[in-house]
Amino acid sequence: MTLRQFKVWRGDASGGQLNDYKVEVNEGEVVLDVIHRLQATQEPDLACRWNCKAGKCGSCSMEINGMPRLGCMTRMSTFEEDETISITPLRTFPVIRDLVTDVSFNYEKAQEMPAFAPPADLAPGEYRMQQIDVERSQEFRKCIECFLCQNTCHVVRDHDDNKPAFSGPRLFIRAAELDMHPLDARHDRKEIAQQSQGLGYCNITKCCTEVCPEHIKITDNAIIPMKERVVDRRYDPLVVFGRKILRRDQLAATVPSGPTVHAGPVTVADGQAPVDFGRELTPPQPAETNASGHVNLNEMLSDRAAAASPFGDDITFPINPNSLNYYHPER
Ligand code: SF4
Ligand code: SF4
Ligand code: FES
Repeated sequence: MTLRQFKVWRGDASGGQLNDYKVEVNEGEVVLDVIHRLQATQEPDLACRWNCKAGKCGSCSMEINGMPRLGCMTRMSTFEEDETISITPLRTFPVIRDLVTDVSFNYEKAQEMPAFAPPADLAPGEYRMQQIDVERSQEFRKCIECFLCQNTCHVVRDHDDNKPAFSGPRLFIRAAELDMHPLDARHDRKEIAQQSQGLGYCNITKCCTEVCPEHIKITDNAIIPMKERVVDRRYDPLVVFGRKILRRDQLAATVPSGPTVHAGPVTVADGQAPVDFGRELTPPQPAETNASGHVNLNEMLSDRAAAASPFGDDITFPINPNSLNYYHPER
């Protein structure tokens, strides 16, 4: 047992200050243990949110020495014995009291997001998914909604006025997850992310990825792929060129038409069962044109103009395990 020095923020929405405390620390303890001991021995009204003490509920988010962390997963042994450890509430969200903040911003943004849209031709209970269908998006399902990524993102951390237009990294991984979902019938996830969720505000600093306790590669695996696809369509130099030289009537001859087709089964490597997504695909749609009737050239060069999902069409199954960062423990 050692007596260690702490600075803990006490206060509410009207203001507060860092108070000094000396608290007993035992071998193997985490910061949340220290807060509990502080409540038990010196400050019975210290407010702190927590539930599982196992890194799974996402409740105990706080800033420890200025770093967004989970209190229950931050070992005291990672600090020097003579170090003073500061514990403060999340900075991006309004303080309710002491270490408890109002994180409703994140739930409001989640509510604004269009939900999973099941395919019209399948009834509940008829959905069939296989492991390879979720290889890319399974990583995103590990999110425990601790909102450390939201708290870290400079777009809203220092700019409260960006909050109405910016949903944040937690919602970007949800958008990517749904866009990679083989049964989601919406084909405009990345457009929604760009136009309504503020994807364009993100300048891929990767700070959100650095603090994620679930080690989700938020930037590399969700944000950058979505940005690339948006940029492909909007800012490709070929698109600019196409706008100058092509007109709507030239497009008509290049875009295939026909009835709705049923996707799958998808051909896979020898020895593996074929995959049938059981999903109706819309027929290819005419490519976007600008106000003057010119068409984006990259649409015309695509082998599947206006394909259903930009994430789904360039995948070959099974996905190379080396390009995945999630492995099923039994595989
Ligand atoms: S990568 Fe984007 S979303 Fe993540 S912290 Fe940076 S600006 Fe925010
Ligand atoms: S993505 Fe990671 S940091 Fe963000 S809310 Fe989910 S678990 Fe927390
Ligand atoms: S108490 Fe549940 S994540 Fe820390």
